[in-house]
Amino acid sequence: MLVFARDDDKAGAAGVRRAISQRELRLVDDPELADVILVEMSDESDLLELRRLRSTNSRAILIAHTMSQDRELWQGAERAGADRVESSGGLAVLLRRLDKGIRSGSNRERLIPLCATADVAGRLGIIASVEHDLGELLLVKGQGMPVCLVGPCPHAGAPLGSALVEDGVLTCPAHGSQFLAVSGERVRGPADCGLTELRVVEESGRYWAVSPAVS
Ligand code: FES
Repeated sequence: MLVFARDDDKAGAAGVRRAISQRELRLVDDPELADVILVEMSDESDLLELRRLRSTNSRAILIAHTMSQDRELWQGAERAGADRVESSGGLAVLLRRLDKGIRSGSNRERLIPLCATADVAGRLGIIASVEHDLGELLLVKGQGMPVCLVGPCPHAGAPLGSALVEDGVLTCPAHGSQFLAVSGERVRGPADCGLTELRVVEESGRYWAVSPAVS
């Protein structure tokens, strides 16, 4: 696994060194070649660098790491395109897991951060809505694990973040198209197709949508 860390990212480099023993991790100088890009976050000025590296290599897993507990900084990193936001102290463990996953092929999927589980505990219906290149990612909770449906509405493109979910059916606020909340399957038009569903995983206190890697 090829890892890029900036020269001034001491915690990132230390994490790589700890993870590197007996593994095929290698630091590279060019972020375009990397499977994993590390960005140490100290303050908001690092968000620009995060965005720059995201646009430099959209295929890589982009990890923002920090010693800070500043919630705004963590959320800013997610909005800036980080696939993962982690405590710097946990980097070595995470890199070992990613290395194993990349060699087995399972990291061909990317995790898209949706929200902290604590922020939406006990809520039902559309509990979070995130703008992403894939579309409007809606985290929908009924019984059991939430699902992620991709808006906007396929009929005429209305946003679905404020759509009502009743009796397991999501209704578009514009013209009334209906979709199953558990799968996005079309129930009623005028939309002539359903909503794409992405798998959701819960990890590190957050919900993540799983999407194929951008190649
Ligand atoms: S835009 Fe949703 S039903 Fe028309």
